[in-house]
Amino acid sequence: MSTTLLQSNLPGLELIHRGKVRDVYALSDDRLLMVATDRLSAFDVVLPNPIPGKGEMLTQISNFWFGKTAHLVPNHLLDVPLAEVLPPGTDLALYEKRAVVTRRLKPVPVEAIARGYLIGSGWKDYRATGALCGITLPAGLQQAQQLPEPIFTPSTKAAVGDHDQNVSYAVMVDAVGADLAGQVREATLAIYQWAAAYAAERGIIIADTKLEFGTDASGKLYVMDEMLTPDSSRFWPADEYRVGISPPSYDKQFVRDWLETQDWNKTAPGPVIPDEVIARTAAKYGEALHKLAGIRLD
Ligand SMILES: Nc1ncnc2c1ncn2[C@@H]1O[C@H](COP(=O)(O)OP(=O)(O)OP(=O)(O)O)[C@@H](O)[C@H]1O
Ligand SMILES: [Mg+2]
Repeated sequence: MSTTLLQSNLPGLELIHRGKVRDVYALSDDRLLMVATDRLSAFDVVLPNPIPGKGEMLTQISNFWFGKTAHLVPNHLLDVPLAEVLPPGTDLALYEKRAVVTRRLKPVPVEAIARGYLIGSGWKDYRATGALCGITLPAGLQQAQQLPEPIFTPSTKAAVGDHDQNVSYAVMVDAVGADLAGQVREATLAIYQWAAAYAAERGIIIADTKLEFGTDASGKLYVMDEMLTPDSSRFWPADEYRVGISPPSYDKQFVRDWLETQDWNKTAPGPVIPDEVIARTAAKYGEALHKLAGIRLD
C-alpha cells in the first residue's frame, strides 16, 4: 500500500528546509533526514493536492540510481535505519519508503545539468543564439534532436518563485573554482551517460537531467538531493520520440495540460487538481519506477 503525505511532522527534529517537494531535517552537524512528500509543483508553484505515493516513488527511483551509479560517483546516502532516527511514536510505515538519512553537505551552488537532446530551455537558447551555456552547437538542429554528444549546461539556482538561469561553464568556474567545476562536470556527464544507456535498453530516452552536488568538511564531492527522477529529468518513451516536436514527458504532462485549460495566472495558490488528473499522474510516476528500476510499490 502506498501512503500519502502532504507535509511531514516529526516533533523533536529540527526542520531546516521545506522545499517544494522535500522536508529536510538536521539530525546532527553532519547528517540529514530528507523526507520526500507527495507535493507536486508545476510552473514552480506547489499545487494544493498531493499525488498519493509520489514521494515514495521518487525516493525509490533515486535510491535505485544512487546504488547503480555509486561506482562512478559517491553519493550522499548513509546506511542508517530510519527506525533509529525517527522520533519515538512515529508511524514508520508512513516514512520508510520516502525518507533517507544522508550526509549533510555544503551545496555546490549550481544545478548540474546534462543534456543529450535539444529541448526546453536548451532549445530556446539555441534557437535564439545558436549556442547553449556558451557551447556553440552545429547549425540547423531541430527541436528534440539528439546532440552530437551529451553536454554539461550548468544553471544557477533561482530564488523562490524565479526560474533558474542557464550560465556558461566560465561563469561556473568563477563561482566555485576550476577544480570543483571540473569535478562536477565530469561526474554529471558520467552519470548521465551511464544512465542514458541503461534507460535506452528499457525503451526510455533520458533527454536531460539535473543533478545537485555537495562537499563534505574535507572538500570531498558527493552527488546529493535526488537522482534521475521524473521531477529532475525528462524521460521520453522511445517509441513516441520524433525529431521536431516536443515529446510527451513522463510525469507532469497531464497536470500541465489540464492547468493550461484553467484560468490561472501561474502564481500561488494553484487550482485544486481533479482526481482523474491526480490518478493518471500517479500512474505515470509508478510506470517510470517500474520501467526503469523494475520496482512496483502497490
Ligand atoms: N545531502 C544534502 N546536504 C545538504 N543539502 C541537501 C542534500 N541533499 C539535498 N539537499 C538540499 O535539500 C533541498 C531539498 O528540497 P527540495 O528539492 O524540495 O527543494 P526545492 O524546492 O527543489 O529547492 P529549494 O531549496 O529552492 O526550495 C534542496 O535545497 C537541496 O539542495
Ligand atoms: Mg529540489
